[in-house]
Amino acid sequence: MLNLYIVNGPNLGRLGRRQPEIYGTATWSDVMNNLRRDFPNCHLEDFQSNHEGALIDYLETLTDRGADGAVINPGALTHQSYALRDAMAALSIPVIEVHLSNIYARESFRAHSVIAPVAVGQISGLGVDGYRLALLHLVLLMDSDS
Ligand code: DQA
Repeated sequence: MLNLYIVNGPNLGRLGRRQPEIYGTATWSDVMNNLRRDFPNCHLEDFQSNHEGALIDYLETLTDRGADGAVINPGALTHQSYALRDAMAALSIPVIEVHLSNIYARESFRAHSVIAPVAVGQISGLGVDGYRLALLHLVLLMDSDS
């Protein structure tokens, strides 16, 4: 069974209530319930924090937790956190960057991700489907490895 991790950064704990016109009406627990239903053969763990250091501490534990891959939505840290980027670069597992909104179609500061160069790839603008598609890619990646 694959161990896949989903990490959400600042303000994503309020999904469903935070600017629903941009981020949608589903809550994070709705999203996790659907993902667990869609990936019954994966062990899915999630973590959210509004704190950069807590996110970095968590990323550092992924190897010890036996993670096979991860999906991260770093929130606004996407655009400015070299520390989070360094933590990701140090991981030996594939990590996919996800954004609910299309970061290229919004304010100009959102159009740059310091995270993207150290991610396997990025999904932006597909709403909560982005998490599902990112997990699907990780599953396909691992299948092709075995
Ligand atoms: C976001 C986009 C970021 O620019 C923003 O700061 C977020 C959410 C997204 O999922 O669309 O908090 O990562």
